[in-house]
Amino acid sequence: MSSLSVDHLIGIKHLQRSDIELIYKTAENFKDVINRPIKKVPSLRDITIANLFFENSTRTKLSFELAEKRLSADVINFSSGSSSVKKGETLIDTVNNILAMKVDMVVMRHPNPGAPYFLSQHVDAKIVNAGDGTHEHPTQALLDTFSIREKLGDLEGKKVVIVGDILHSRVALSNIYCLQKMGAEVMVCGPATLIPKYINELGVKVSHNLREALNWCDVANMLRIQLERQDMAYFPSLREYSMMFGLTKEILDSLDKEIIVMHPGPINRGVEITSDVADSGQSIILEQVENGVAVRMAVLYLLAGKIERES
Ligand code: CP
Repeated sequence: MSSLSVDHLIGIKHLQRSDIELIYKTAENFKDVINRPIKKVPSLRDITIANLFFENSTRTKLSFELAEKRLSADVINFSSGSSSVKKGETLIDTVNNILAMKVDMVVMRHPNPGAPYFLSQHVDAKIVNAGDGTHEHPTQALLDTFSIREKLGDLEGKKVVIVGDILHSRVALSNIYCLQKMGAEVMVCGPATLIPKYINELGVKVSHNLREALNWCDVANMLRIQLERQDMAYFPSLREYSMMFGLTKEILDSLDKEIIVMHPGPINRGVEITSDVADSGQSIILEQVENGVAVRMAVLYLLAGKIERES
C-alpha cells in the first residue's frame, strides 16, 4: 500500500494496521534524511500548513513545525492566547479566515474532544489532530510505538504497561488503539479513580499495583498526572501518588529483567518518575522526541499526497 486509507489524521481508531505500517516505513526513510548533513527535502514545496494551537504545547508544536520545515512547506503558526479568539471569535470563523489565506493543511491542538473532526467536516483542508482534550493524540502514539519497534524489533506480542492518569489521557487512548492494532498486549496501571469505567471495553488488562505491572511488561510508559484537567481530588496527595505509582531506580533495579521506560512529556520529575530513571540508560524519552519529527514528516507527507491539485 502506498497511500493512507484516511484523508485526515483525527485518531488512531480510524487507521488500519496497513496505514500504521506505511507511516512507520515512511518515517524510517525520513529519519535517514534528518540524520544527513542536508536535512531538508523539497517534498511539500507547494504546500502551506497552519499550526493552530488552542492549548499549550512544547514538544508537539516544535516537532510539527520542524517536520514541516524539513519537508520545505510554507508554515504559519497560531496560538489562541495571542489571537482574536480572546475577542470572542468562533473556531470555525478563526479557521475559515486562516484558510482564506490558501492553507492546504491544518495541524490543530484543542482542549475540546472532537474539535479536529468537526473541522474536517467543515473546511476544505487536510486536518491533523495534535491532541484534542482527553480524546486522542495520534502522532504521539505513532512516535511512541515507532520508538518501541525500533528498540524491540517488532510490536507483535510485546507487553506494554501505561501507568498513571489514564482517565484524562489522550496519549493513553491513542497508544492503546495503536499498540493493539500492531499486535501488542496492553495493561493500564494506576489508582482506581484514574482508570476510566469503560476500560474493560478496550480489551486491556488493569492493575493497581505498580510492581505487579512492571514485572509483567517489556515496556513501561509513564504518564503525567494531568492536574489541569482534574476537577476533583482523585487521590489524597501527590506525595502519596508518587509513593504508590512513581517509578524509582530502586524499583527498576529490583526487577528480574531490563524493561524500557518511556514518557510522552512533559515530565514531573519526582512525581511519576524520578530523575535517575528519566535520565537512565533504560529511558528512551529523548529518542521518542527525536522520532517525533520523522513520524510527523511521514504523516504530513502521506496526507499531502491526498490533496487534489489543480492542473
Ligand atoms: N507529548 C506532548 O504532547 O507534549 P506537549 O504537550 O509539550 O506538546
